[in-house]
Amino acid sequence: MSYLYGNIPIDQILCGDNQELIRQLPDSCIQLVITSPPYFQQRDYGGGMGNESHVDEYIDKLICLFRECVRVLKDDGNLVFNIGDKYQDSSLLLVPYRFALAATNTELVRLVNEITWVKKNPTPRQFKRRLVSSTEPFFHFVKSDNYFYDTKAFLAEPSTIQKSQKKTNTKVGQRYFELIEESELSEAEKASARLELAEAIQEVKRGETQSFRMKIRGIHAAPFGGQMGGRTLQLKNKGFTIIRIYGNRLKRDVIETPVAAEKGNIHPAIYPVDLIEEFLHLLTPHGSVVLDPFMGSGSTAVACKKLGRHYVGYDINAEYCEFAKNRVDGTEIKMRNMFEGI
Ligand SMILES: C[S@@+](CC[C@H](N)C(=O)[O-])C[C@H]1O[C@@H](n2cnc3c(N)ncnc32)[C@H](O)[C@@H]1O
Repeated sequence: MSYLYGNIPIDQILCGDNQELIRQLPDSCIQLVITSPPYFQQRDYGGGMGNESHVDEYIDKLICLFRECVRVLKDDGNLVFNIGDKYQDSSLLLVPYRFALAATNTELVRLVNEITWVKKNPTPRQFKRRLVSSTEPFFHFVKSDNYFYDTKAFLAEPSTIQKSQKKTNTKVGQRYFELIEESELSEAEKASARLELAEAIQEVKRGETQSFRMKIRGIHAAPFGGQMGGRTLQLKNKGFTIIRIYGNRLKRDVIETPVAAEKGNIHPAIYPVDLIEEFLHLLTPHGSVVLDPFMGSGSTAVACKKLGRHYVGYDINAEYCEFAKNRVDGTEIKMRNMFEGI
C-alpha cells in the first residue's frame, strides 16, 4: 500500500462521503483537484449529493466541498470542476455558472478559464423546440498567481507532435529570408531578423510550435487597428515581428472529444480519460498527487496511472468504487511515462 505522508493513502479509491473523507487530508498536499460532481437532479447514484430539492441547496453543498478542496490544494495547485446544466420548466438553470460565481465569491480562488468540452457524439435526441446540448464547461480555478502550468509538456504530448510534424516541410519559412533581403531594413536589422527567423524555423521542426508568421517593416502592413501595441512597436523599432502559432489544442479553450465508451461499464456518467490526460499534462508535474472527490468509474485514476501521477479518490457508491479499482488495475502505464522524472 502506498502513502503520501503520515497515514494519508495515495493511489487508492476510498468508499465514503467525500465531505468526511477530505477532512482527513492535511492542508496543501494536493497538486490538482479534478472532478465532475453529480449534476443537479439528473441521476440517483444511490446516495450522496445531486438530488437536493433546490438548486441553492445543491450549490451550497458543493461550495462546502470546494472550500475543502482549496484547503488541501498546494499554493501552486489547480482545480478543475466539470458541471452540467439542467432544464427546469423548459428553462436552463445555468447551474455551472451559479457554481462558478459562488466559487469565485469565496474569494479563495481565481477563475483562469472556462474550457468547453465539445462532445463529438452527443446523445442523439431530437427536441421539437430546442437544440441538442453537446458541450459542457470545465472551470479552471487557481489559488495563487504562481500556479503550475506546463505548456511545453502539453505541446510535447505525442498526438500534437505528430500533427505538427506532419505539417512540417523543409521549406517552412524560407520565403521570409528572401523578403528580409528585399526589405528596407538596415543591415543590422536584417542580420537580427535572419537569426530570429532561423530560430522560429527550428522551433517548428522540433514540434514546439505548429507554425509562425513574420511581419517585416515596409513589406507587411502594421497590425490592424494601428494602435502602438507590442507588435506595432516591434515593427517600428526592430523592423520585424514573429507571431508564433502553437496550434489549436494549446491556444483555444475548447477540447473536442467523444463521450467515453468503456467496456463493461456500470457507471452512467463517465468523462473521457483522454480529456483528463490533457489537463494532467498541462497542470501537473510527473509524480504529483491528484484528488478526485467524485471518482465514479475511476477515469481520473486511470489517467493518473497512465501518466505517472498519484491519485486520491472518493466515491460514496461501493459498486462504483469496486469497478473503478478493477479498471485501474487493468490499466497500463504509458511506457514513456515510466522513465519521466527519473
Ligand atoms: C458524475 S459522477 C463522476 C463520474 C466520473 N468522473 C467518471 O468518469 O466516472 C459523480 C459521482 O459522485 C459520487 N458521489 C455523489 N455524492 C458523493 C459524496 N457525497 N461523496 C462521494 N461521492 C459522491 C456518485 O456516486 C457518482 O459516482
